[in-house]
Amino acid sequence: MSTAAAAPDIPDAAADALHAREAEAFAAARPVSRRLGQEAQAHLYRGVPMHWMADWPTPYPLFLKEAGGATLVDADGHAYADFCLGDTGAMFGHSPAPVAAAIAAQAARGLTAMLASEDAAVIGRLLAERFGLPVWQVCATATDANRYALRWARAVTQRPVVVVFDGCYHGTVEDAMVRLGPQGQTLPRPGLLGQVHDLARSTRVVPFNDAAALADALAPGDVAAVLTEPALTNCGMVLPQPGFLDDVRRLTREAGTLLIIDETHTFSTGPGGYTRTYGLEPDLFVLGKPVAGGLPTAVYGASAAMAERMAEAHARASAAGGHGHSGMGTTLSANPLQLAAMRATLEQVATPDAFRRMIALANRLADGLEAAIARAGLPWTVTRLGARCEIQFRPTPPRTGAEAEAAFRPGLERALHLALLNRGVVITPFHNMTLCSPATTEADVDRLLAAFDDVLLQLTAR
Ligand SMILES: Cc1ncc(COP(=O)(O)O)c(C=O)c1O
Repeated sequence: MSTAAAAPDIPDAAADALHAREAEAFAAARPVSRRLGQEAQAHLYRGVPMHWMADWPTPYPLFLKEAGGATLVDADGHAYADFCLGDTGAMFGHSPAPVAAAIAAQAARGLTAMLASEDAAVIGRLLAERFGLPVWQVCATATDANRYALRWARAVTQRPVVVVFDGCYHGTVEDAMVRLGPQGQTLPRPGLLGQVHDLARSTRVVPFNDAAALADALAPGDVAAVLTEPALTNCGMVLPQPGFLDDVRRLTREAGTLLIIDETHTFSTGPGGYTRTYGLEPDLFVLGKPVAGGLPTAVYGASAAMAERMAEAHARASAAGGHGHSGMGTTLSANPLQLAAMRATLEQVATPDAFRRMIALANRLADGLEAAIARAGLPWTVTRLGARCEIQFRPTPPRTGAEAEAAFRPGLERALHLALLNRGVVITPFHNMTLCSPATTEADVDRLLAAFDDVLLQLTAR
C-alpha cells in the first residue's frame, strides 16, 4: 500500500493551475504546430497519424520538424533536450550517424524482397555474442516479437495459459493487456478496445516480487510461459527484489513453464541488457525499439534447448500440412533495411563505451533530481535502471505494479511534463521516465535539472 498520502504533497489545484498557465504559454509560442494540427484534423483521426500522439499534455499536438542526437526541433523552431527519446526507440540518439549511413546505403539497394540479405549471418552472430542466446529471429516490432514468443511457447509446451505480472506492458499483445482484479482474477486492462475473447481464460496475473503468488499460478501445470520484463518499466518503475528473478527461474523450471524475458526497455541496463548484466537464463528473449537504432525492428532469441523444441513443433505442424502458416512473421519482417540498420546499431552505436556514457549521465541526472526533490521537501523517489530513471510520486520504491500505479497523479504529471516542455526539455508523456543517450550532454542534463527545480518552485509556491 502506498504511504504517499500521509506526507505533504502538491495539491491537485496547484498542478491544475500550473497546467493552465503552461498551456497558455505553449499556445502563444507555437502557432505553426497549431496550424498543422488544424490541417491534420481534416483527415487524421484526432488530428494525428497515430491516435495516442494526441495524448501528450499539450493543448494541441506538438509537430516535429526534425530530430538529431538528443535534440528535437519543433515546427515553430524551438529546440528541446530530449529525454523521452521516442520512449526508447531512439535510446542511442536520433538518427545515429552510422545507422543513418547504413539506411541510406541500403535504401538504394533494395528495401524488401522476402529474402535474407548478406547481413543476416552477421546479425545472428552479433545477437548471440551480445545476449548469450544462440538462435534468433527478426521481426517488425516488440509487440510482434512478444506475440511470436508466446505462440512458440504454447506450441512447444502444448499448454494454453500465460502468466504476466500486474502492471506489465509488452506492447499491444492481447494476452498481456490485463490487470489483477481484487479477487486475484484477470481483468482486461482499462481502456482496452474491441476485446472479444475472455482474457481470463488464457492469462493469469500475479503481483511482481511475489514468488508465492507465482508458485500458485503455476501450480495447475497448464502455464506455457511467464512473460516479464526483468524490472517493470511501464507502470513507473518496479525493480526486482533481491532473489526474486532467481525464484522466477526456479519456479518456472520446476513447473515445466518457459521464461520469456522482454528486454525492450531494460536494455538500458547495459550492452547485454539486464539478462547479461545479471546472468538471467531465459528460454526466450525479446528486444525491440532501439535494436535497429529507431527503425521498426525487433528480435527474439531462443536458448539451444528451446530452439530444438521449436524445430520439433515446426516439423509437427508442417507434417500436418500447414507449411508456411505458423501464425508468425509479417511480409516486411527481417527486410534488408532492418538488417542493415541493426548491424550498424550493434556494431557501431550500442557499444560498451556508449553505455558507460549513458549510465554516467543518468546517474548525474538521478542524483540531481533527488537533490531537487529533497530541497522541495517532496515525498518522491527516483528509481534508476542503467540509462533510465523514473520519478515516482511516493516516498519509497514500489514493490509491485499496483503500488507503482497507485502513485500515478495524472494531473500532476501533465503539469510537470508541459512545464518542462515549455522550458525546453521533453520527458516521456505517459509517466515520468527519462532516458540518456550517448548523444546527451551534461548541459542537457543540467538543463533538465534547472527546469525541474523551477517547476517544483512553481508547484510548491503557496
Ligand atoms: C517492455 C515492452 N515490450 C514491448 C513493447 C512494445 O513495443 P512496440 O510498441 O514497439 O511494439 C513495449 C512498448 O512500450 C515495452 O515497453
